[in-house]
Amino acid sequence: MANVTVIGAQWGDEGKGKIVDWLASRADAVVRFQGGHNAGHTLVVGDKVYKLSLLPSGIVTGTLSVIGNGVVLDPWALKAEIEKLEGQGVTIDADNFAVADNCPLILPLHRDLDGLRETAAGAGKIGTTGRGIGPAYEDKVGRRAIRVCDLAHLDQLEPQLDRLCAHHDALRAGFDQPPVDREALLADLREIAPFVLQFAQPVWKRLKKVRKAGAKILFEGAQGVLLDVDHGTYPFVTSSNTVSGTAAAGSGLGPGSTGFVLGIVKAYTTRVGSGPFPTELDDATGQRLGERGHEFGTVTGRQRRCGWFDAVLVRQSCAISGVTGIALTKLDVLDGFDTVRICTGYRLNGKILDYFPSHSAEQAAVEPIYEEMEGWRETTAGARSWAELPAQAIKYIQRVQELIETPVALVSTSPEREDTILVRDPFLD
Ligand code: IMP
Repeated sequence: MANVTVIGAQWGDEGKGKIVDWLASRADAVVRFQGGHNAGHTLVVGDKVYKLSLLPSGIVTGTLSVIGNGVVLDPWALKAEIEKLEGQGVTIDADNFAVADNCPLILPLHRDLDGLRETAAGAGKIGTTGRGIGPAYEDKVGRRAIRVCDLAHLDQLEPQLDRLCAHHDALRAGFDQPPVDREALLADLREIAPFVLQFAQPVWKRLKKVRKAGAKILFEGAQGVLLDVDHGTYPFVTSSNTVSGTAAAGSGLGPGSTGFVLGIVKAYTTRVGSGPFPTELDDATGQRLGERGHEFGTVTGRQRRCGWFDAVLVRQSCAISGVTGIALTKLDVLDGFDTVRICTGYRLNGKILDYFPSHSAEQAAVEPIYEEMEGWRETTAGARSWAELPAQAIKYIQRVQELIETPVALVSTSPEREDTILVRDPFLD
């Protein structure tokens, strides 16, 4: 298994950044395969801090970085992110960066629609990142998207623009908005086209070559399994498939290419945006988790909702995504609690459930069944071996592992790269 696929096993924000950064430093290629600039993470390399949203993590170390066809690409966000990184001294060129030429574009009209719909939905809003992700994916499956390869043929765009605008103008009229300004859109596309096209290519071909040469590929997932459009807390989800299987379809490699599936799991639970959250704590404990864990969204700055670890959800995520092993993160946030709780099942209408049901009303109605464990007073922050962990913290990790029916491959004990307890190296497995 030379390749590794990293996915979030909760609602995103599990601390993928540090783990992906560590793995990216040893990979030959890093591939984003879904989502867009709704993702966000911070990389700390030496004394420099890099904020990435769309670009794969390998970019800061010069590793071949690829945006696969499964991503929705905002070309202006791409340009801004690249220019910012170049300003920090990072070299980005066609040698170390490629964008799939069949990648659909996020256009200003998608951002407009995202905002209009969220505002109109009132209390029923999804709580999106407002980046136009959902509308762009809708146009992709609706077969009216403008894709990266179209940027090389803008003189032939009229029929596509007709289809796209007919759809959006009808929606916009319903929201009392003027029709799409086609001339302005076309002018903007003409201006941005050369920038994007310098990186555009059939990336499946490049990845095939890289793979044939024996390279180690890191597939970098965004968001988390519980935000998956099929398997997540629908409709409070993102608009892509966030499960590991998407790594193959979203990059143009076969299903055997995903390798070791590393599920990133936070030692407690958080979520941004609306939707069911069985173990959410609306009290001082939830506030304490949020403060200790610095739980604010990287992209939108929103405060994250916090709660106890939900083993039912993570067991389900690991099963759905074929997780080989997990990386447990942010254990130190639980330091100092007298007792800690883990959700081991749900109660719904007098019945006990060992899984999360599909219907949103049932998802909202389940009551968590908790198992309580003694906490630990000592700090786990910075531990690099089991011997440095308090006995109760080890018991907690073992219980988590048992309940989710998936082994722990590593435990991350601080944002620092070296503060990690390695049980199984995903690249060597
Ligand atoms: P969208 O992806 O912007 O459409 O947002 C849909 C849902 O996914 C909202 O609940 C967002 O808060 C959530 N979401 C999207 N991207 C992320 C992420 O990177 N981390 C955590 N939540 C996310």
